[in-house]
Amino acid sequence: MLTDLVVLVTGAGRGIGRAIALEMAREGASLAVLDLQPDRAHETAALCGARARAFPLDITDYAAFAAVVDAVIAWRGQIDVIVNNAGIFTSGTILEDRLDDWRRTMRVNLEALYMGTKLVVPHMVARRFGRIINIASIAGCVSRGNVGSYNASKGAVIAYTKSLAVELGQYGIQANAIAPGFVRTAMMMSDGVDLTAEPEFQDWYIGRSKIPLRRAGVPEDIAGAAVFLASAYCRYMTGAVLVVDGGLTSTF
Ligand SMILES: NC(=O)c1ccc[n+]([C@@H]2O[C@H](COP(=O)([O-])OP(=O)(O)OC[C@H]3O[C@@H](n4cnc5c(N)ncnc54)[C@H](O)[C@@H]3O)[C@@H](O)[C@H]2O)c1
Repeated sequence: MLTDLVVLVTGAGRGIGRAIALEMAREGASLAVLDLQPDRAHETAALCGARARAFPLDITDYAAFAAVVDAVIAWRGQIDVIVNNAGIFTSGTILEDRLDDWRRTMRVNLEALYMGTKLVVPHMVARRFGRIINIASIAGCVSRGNVGSYNASKGAVIAYTKSLAVELGQYGIQANAIAPGFVRTAMMMSDGVDLTAEPEFQDWYIGRSKIPLRRAGVPEDIAGAAVFLASAYCRYMTGAVLVVDGGLTSTF
């Protein structure tokens, strides 16, 4: 489904980003695998196969990000798809959270997404084709409290996706967001414990069917949505938010 496309995925060293990279490689794309952790980035690239290359960097460093975009262009000549996936999770109510955590969350989840998009869009405009896929969260639409900076960053990602869609449609560039629900990755681990396996989670979300599909998501669930958004099957969608949450936000 993605033959001849060149895809850049941030935070592709593990979790949802890795699953997206793997699935897109399977569908024939060339993959630029970006991650803060060099070993993880190289591992994902190796798993993706010969048409993948690792680019370790901190995406909050604009100069480093610009150098990587240049390197990808030098390597493959184009960037068709950017998946802005890298993100961090911070928690704490406004009574207890710290300004530094708020700023760090915004820098990674929002500002770096802006920077990556700003760097690749000129290449897309030149070819009158591009797909921007932003990994938001259901936390961008609803809140369970205790995660204000994360909520705000993801809400802004959704708003910014719509802005990009409006600005860039004229160039044949589509911008869409994915809003995952609970997905079993390292982000859902606390002190080595998988929160989705905890009795409280199991009782409320699964036992009481708060998640109608009665399981937490896995990274591959999100990868499928991302492949669709990058593919030729996604022709007339832009500014949309694909909610991939097992039905969680349809219940109340
Ligand atoms: N796991 C969930 O339940 C869930 C739910 C909704 C949305 N999301 C979103 O999905 C995305 C991926 O989450 P995940 O669960 O796979 O997380 P994860 O922590 O497993 O993976 C995130 C990856 O991003 C990389 N990264 C973090 N900061 C970076 C930086 N400054 N520069 C480069 N790379 C950086 C990390 O090294 C890591 O490999 C995030 O945007 C997250 O907010 C996750």
